[in-house]
Amino acid sequence: MKFLAGSALAVVAALLPTTLAQTHTDCFPLNTTGCPDMSALGGNATFNFNNTGIPDGSKIWEKQNQGTIDWLEDKGATFTVARSGDSPMVQSKFYMLFGRFEVVMRAADGQGIVSSAILQSEDLDEIDWEFLGSNHTHCLTNYYGKGNTTVGDRGKEFKMDAAPQDDFHNYTIDWTKDRIQWWLDGNMLRQLNYSDALGGKNYPQTPMNVRLGIWAGGDTSHNDPGVVEWAGGKTNFDDGPFVMTVQSIYAQDYTSAATYSWADMDSSGSWEKVKVITGKSDVLKEIESPSGVKNRWKALPQGAKIGIIAGAIGAFALAMLALLFCCIKQRRAGRREHAALLAEEEKDAAELQEYKRQMQSGKFGFGSTVHRI
Ligand SMILES: *[C@@H]1O[C@H](CO)[C@@H](O)[C@H](O)[C@H]1NC(C)=O
Ligand SMILES: *[C@@H]1O[C@H](CO)[C@@H](O)[C@H](O)[C@H]1NC(C)=O
Ligand SMILES: *[C@@H]1O[C@H](CO)[C@@H](O)[C@H](O)[C@H]1NC(C)=O
Ligand SMILES: *[C@@H]1O[C@H](CO)[C@@H](O)[C@H](O)[C@H]1NC(C)=O
Ligand SMILES: *[C@@H]1O[C@H](CO)[C@@H](O)[C@H](O)[C@H]1NC(C)=O
Ligand SMILES: *[C@@H]1O[C@H](CO)[C@@H](O)[C@H](O)[C@H]1NC(C)=O
Ligand SMILES: *[C@@H]1O[C@H](CO)[C@@H](O)[C@H](O)[C@H]1NC(C)=O
Repeated sequence: MKFLAGSALAVVAALLPTTLAQTHTDCFPLNTTGCPDMSALGGNATFNFNNTGIPDGSKIWEKQNQGTIDWLEDKGATFTVARSGDSPMVQSKFYMLFGRFEVVMRAADGQGIVSSAILQSEDLDEIDWEFLGSNHTHCLTNYYGKGNTTVGDRGKEFKMDAAPQDDFHNYTIDWTKDRIQWWLDGNMLRQLNYSDALGGKNYPQTPMNVRLGIWAGGDTSHNDPGVVEWAGGKTNFDDGPFVMTVQSIYAQDYTSAATYSWADMDSSGSWEKVKVITGKSDVLKEIESPSGVKNRWKALPQGAKIGIIAGAIGAFALAMLALLFCCIKQRRAGRREHAALLAEEEKDAAELQEYKRQMQSGKFGFGSTVHRI
């Protein structure tokens, strides 16, 4: 629950000071030295979870908490709350220092169920999209600076034309050092200027990773009454399972870096104290690496695998047939047929090449980097 609970709690923080301790980081870099370096994204990446889900043992995503993360072919990665205590979450191993985060997702239905797609840093800067399962008309936007959860005017709700639980929508965060924008399906809902976040003091400005998750704020055995109320009421797990589905993600780091370090950080939490180590990031290398093909293959739907195998066997069989024909025909009918059959063979070979190319470029796959116009 951790960070998610932290976000939700802001709303009721004044009522529930003790539960704030749940807001979580392994190493708070503003009062601790030696917090670990972070892998930068340092580029652009698209993850079409509708093709692959989120592969196990991924070097790019890390699953956390109790609960199932699976995938639905052609839909996306699914995050399921089936029983009390479930709060499946996935976080990126890459961080961005200012950047763009687009998520195409469908929120979970269900009283007390909270779906969320957020950016968060180790010193608890945070930019949020949140969805309450029982609210079919509004989405929530929020932000935090340095884990300051004092009730303020940070959270804002926006009316949607369609229920976020009924269909997929594109929720985008565009984050620079000067302002944060929240976009819904191509329309800007909100802009937060640096100076409007307590003169910048509460403005998110340290490297953040992507976190996707679902939890039951309405689980009375795990949450205080204020949280249950905020989340829309008590969750009845017999109504479940409750499923959030993420079709795709696009992430773009506005800093070209290999690594972000806290080495020069002080208590200010200022972006100017983040040490940027240049080079090509390991995560970006992994995303672009052809060895990713192995993961892509594993993650391919059964139908596609059969198709590719059938394609390969077919091409082989055709080639053998062609060879056979070639020998017989060559003797019997001379050069013309020979040439035609050779052309056929070449076409097959070209098709195989195209398959390979698509595999490598990640058309079928997991986390291809793209250049966007
Ligand atoms: C650092 O700050 C965090 C968050 O405010 C707090 O939980 C932690 O106890 C502090 N640690 C030290 C060593 O002061
Ligand atoms: C990321 O995409 C932007 C355009 O949206 C482009 O200007 C930039 O060069 C790309 N960066 C990388 C590393 O591909
Ligand atoms: C997969 O997701 C991408 C990006 O959101 C989308 O353009 C594409 O249409 C989706 N494919 C299917 C089969 O839904
Ligand atoms: C949904 O959220 C909006 C904004 O907070 C609120 O006005 C509305 O009453 C909520 N609807 C439900 C059904 O909770
Ligand atoms: C936390 O935010 C509140 C509301 O914006 C502000 O009044 C307070 O001074 C902030 N606390 C710190 C320690 O910055
Ligand atoms: C999502 O919306 C943003 C902002 O309107 C747009 O630039 C982007 O292309 C959209 N992304 C997807 C995957 O549809
Ligand atoms: C934020 O700054 C821009 C100019 O940089 C200004 O046009 C806009 O009105 C400001 N937004 C708010 C909410 O003050």
